[in-house]
Amino acid sequence: MSSNFEANNNNGEKQLVCVTGAGGFIGSWVVKELLIRGYHVRGTARDPADSKNAHLLELEGADQRLSLCRADVLDAASLRAAFSGCHGVFHVASPVSNDPDLVPVAVEGTRNVINAAADMGVRRVVFTSSYGAVHMNPSRSPDAVLDETCWSDYEFCRQTDNLYCCAKMMAEMTATEEAAKRGLELAVVVPSMTMGPMLQQTLNFSSNHVARYLMGTKKSYPNAVAAYVDVRDVARAHVLVYERPDARGRYLCIGTVLHRAELLRMLRDLFPQYPATAKCEDDGKPMAKPYKFSNQRLKDLGLEFTPLRKSLHEAVLCMQQKSHLPLIYPVPKHHVEFTVFRQKLESYLNSRALKSDDTFHSLDRPGQQCNTWATREGPSGKPL
Ligand SMILES: NC(=O)c1ccc[n+]([C@@H]2O[C@H](COP(=O)([O-])OP(=O)(O)OC[C@H]3O[C@@H](n4cnc5c(N)ncnc54)[C@H](OP(=O)(O)O)[C@@H]3O)[C@@H](O)[C@H]2O)c1
Repeated sequence: MSSNFEANNNNGEKQLVCVTGAGGFIGSWVVKELLIRGYHVRGTARDPADSKNAHLLELEGADQRLSLCRADVLDAASLRAAFSGCHGVFHVASPVSNDPDLVPVAVEGTRNVINAAADMGVRRVVFTSSYGAVHMNPSRSPDAVLDETCWSDYEFCRQTDNLYCCAKMMAEMTATEEAAKRGLELAVVVPSMTMGPMLQQTLNFSSNHVARYLMGTKKSYPNAVAAYVDVRDVARAHVLVYERPDARGRYLCIGTVLHRAELLRMLRDLFPQYPATAKCEDDGKPMAKPYKFSNQRLKDLGLEFTPLRKSLHEAVLCMQQKSHLPLIYPVPKHHVEFTVFRQKLESYLNSRALKSDDTFHSLDRPGQQCNTWATREGPSGKPL
């Protein structure tokens, strides 16, 4: 069966689907991806009129095919109204925090979503879990491959006060049990720490994680490894598993695993002008080793993972643009080269007897080498 067959209704139009938590970091990209693919989308938010959701209405196709609807996952009636007429539901909404209030929202909220979906005749649900439900297991052998069969150790998470991981484990198990009871088709996307540009204006948890390291607000980094993935890959994964009628169960959505020291090296390399955290909590001790993981199930569906360097680069540019990071220009590394370039340019100007302003204007076009130099950095380190 082709994927399009499932995604279209009888008139050949794309179906109506609902995304919970539409205005959040991942939810917004899921909405964008669905709109790009031609779906009619209903997005839920607890307050759709809040300006923090305004970016959704600017998305391509939103004027024709996106509606926003008020729903709280703890209010079953609001969910039933949101899911009315929908073929599919993407349950993304859940607080990303370690606050005890998160547990009922994650767990009872998920139970409500699955039951409301079943009540309203929805066929397929995609649930957003987290690798926090998968990788927190101190007894896992360092040689083991992290895959869809792995679960975090609940007792370990509880004893270490990792409420987020406890909540995501319980929520995922609840989704699986309730969907089986109600005969719903369920696919679970399990993203790792999610990076990349934000569509929304407000700063979400994982973007803030990058900002805090880049600004050196965290005085030291742990001797630990973590898994990362690009937010656009996470959104594509949601739609891919939705569109494959045979897709069931968990899909690990991890692009790369690396030590925090490597993450910081990458950030410093990309943006040397920021005072990024440089000290390891465990200085002198052996470095934790990256573990192996499998993202084969998603690769088999055709997902190609974005390199982390690109995700980080675009995440930081986006945070600068949205004023979550101060705009600091790099100190020019190439004074000598710049001076030579300038001399050549001046001699060219003299030979052509043109005014320098005009010439900068005429050179300021894409694809011209002078433009690259001129807009990157002037002798003062500021863009020309
Ligand atoms: N970011 C990551 O690194 C990452 C990694 C793995 C998994 N995840 C999972 O991905 C999902 C989204 O995370 P995110 O990073 O996009 O977080 P986010 O930007 O903070 O978005 C969270 C969303 O949850 C909604 N929400 C919170 N409480 C709600 C409630 N009671 N009823 C309805 N909606 C509620 C919020 O909607 P309102 O507008 O109503 O506040 C918001 O849209 C979560 O399930 C999270 O566990 C995230």
